[in-house]
Amino acid sequence: MKKLIVANWKMYLTLSQSVTLTKRISKSQITNHKLRVVLCPSFVALEEVGKIVHGTRVKLGAQDVEPEKRGAFTGEVGLDDLASLQVEYVLVGHSERRRIFHETDALVNEKLRAVIKAGMRPILCVGEPHGVRTQGMAKVRRYVGTQVKTGLRGVAKKDLRRTVIAYEPIWAIGSGKSDMPEDAVQMHAWIRKVVGIKSVRILYGGSVSAKNARAFLRAPGIDGLLIGKASVNLGQWRAITHL
Ligand code: 13P
Repeated sequence: MKKLIVANWKMYLTLSQSVTLTKRISKSQITNHKLRVVLCPSFVALEEVGKIVHGTRVKLGAQDVEPEKRGAFTGEVGLDDLASLQVEYVLVGHSERRRIFHETDALVNEKLRAVIKAGMRPILCVGEPHGVRTQGMAKVRRYVGTQVKTGLRGVAKKDLRRTVIAYEPIWAIGSGKSDMPEDAVQMHAWIRKVVGIKSVRILYGGSVSAKNARAFLRAPGIDGLLIGKASVNLGQWRAITHL
């Protein structure tokens, strides 16, 4: 299975910066056959980024979605619009959405099922806060296990195979302190057990950089990376995707 590298550009870049970065990335990525790469720009940059990556190995992802089909939902972006832009992957339940925008497990599950129904691949983000990690790995397993179970509620087995899960310990996000690869391996094995499907793709995220990416990519059961800050730095990105 090819490793999946997903760039979450969050709200870091303007439209023109997104276009410039995409041009550079897609040029260097075309020759790299070992990875599957997904770029998740902001909603406003999806169309232009999509035009640049069209026909290359680089795929398009969205950072979030509104699960309702269409209607009076001010400020939201729906799946029909994402589909028309050839979006293939959609992040759901990112910890910033959960923490800052108060998204619940129930809403995350609704989004995930809507993404599947629309024929796209959801990337379900899960991970524990620092306060849970300090209570030990058994507590972490329980916390993350609940997120996984409720996030995937009502999803058929065949659709679980198309679902990606990203384990991102919240304390590791943007902190410069990634998880230990051996702890992440433990968590990936646990998540795989909770999902009940061996082939489910599970990514690691949280302060991934050119320095530690190799260790995560080589670790058993880690099928790829979800990268924030380092993914908007061309030097870091090149180093990671050319490992
Ligand atoms: P950083 O790589 O900046 O820690 O962010 C991780 C993340 O939130 C990706 O979704």
